[in-house]
Amino acid sequence: MKGVILAGGLATRLRPLTFVTNKHLLPIYNKPMIYYPLEAMVRAGITDVLIITGPDHAGSFLNLLKSGKDFGLKLDYEIQEEARGIAQGISLAESFSDGERIMVVLGDNIFGYNLKNSIENFNKRERGAMVFGIEMATESKQYGVIEIGKDKKVISIEEKPEKPKSNLAQTGIYMYDNRVFQFIKKLKPSKRGELEVTDLNNCYVSEKTMECEIINWWIDAGTSHDELLRANNLIADKVKSGELK
Ligand code: G1P
Repeated sequence: MKGVILAGGLATRLRPLTFVTNKHLLPIYNKPMIYYPLEAMVRAGITDVLIITGPDHAGSFLNLLKSGKDFGLKLDYEIQEEARGIAQGISLAESFSDGERIMVVLGDNIFGYNLKNSIENFNKRERGAMVFGIEMATESKQYGVIEIGKDKKVISIEEKPEKPKSNLAQTGIYMYDNRVFQFIKKLKPSKRGELEVTDLNNCYVSEKTMECEIINWWIDAGTSHDELLRANNLIADKVKSGELK
């Protein structure tokens, strides 16, 4: 299993903070945002990680993370020339993956869940994909919304639906078999002009090979100034209580 972190995009929702830097380099309490998905990869036992980012700030990622040695990882870098969606970003990992399965984490997703067991279970499966969901106390409709049946099987995923079928939001953590790249080649851009991760995931849902695991806490720190602030406060609390380093 190889790791892929998507750290591109324009982050228009976080302007003016993101006019001259990439959002994944912004601080979350005591670390740059990208450290969190990277450390999640380390906890999961992944040793090869590809960072995909836009052309404007790629040098800053290289300056910050270097070879990955300090994290106990080997890092590679790939440039996403234009922000054309999560699935388009994933497509850039094809040669890096070298036929292996991949775990994809969005660079602004912060969570404590240890993915090690999930990887072991996923590797036992012949084929398919896995999405990680989180139960939302209030509105799930600003996210992809997952409907699950028995045995973790996903029945449907809808992108930002008007009437969500559940309170289970799709996080930015995914695992795919290597057919993912063939599925992406068949996708069409959505109304917002992007290759959507939800459309990609639904390729697996329709062949009934998409499973969902529910995680405990998670923040998408890149969605708004308020979520960024909430992530900072939450991590500060967890560091001070000794739950996180
Ligand atoms: C993307 C996905 C969405 C998912 C979210 C998680 O949304 O399209 O399904 O719930 O990431 O962070 P976006 O941030 O691109 O609007």
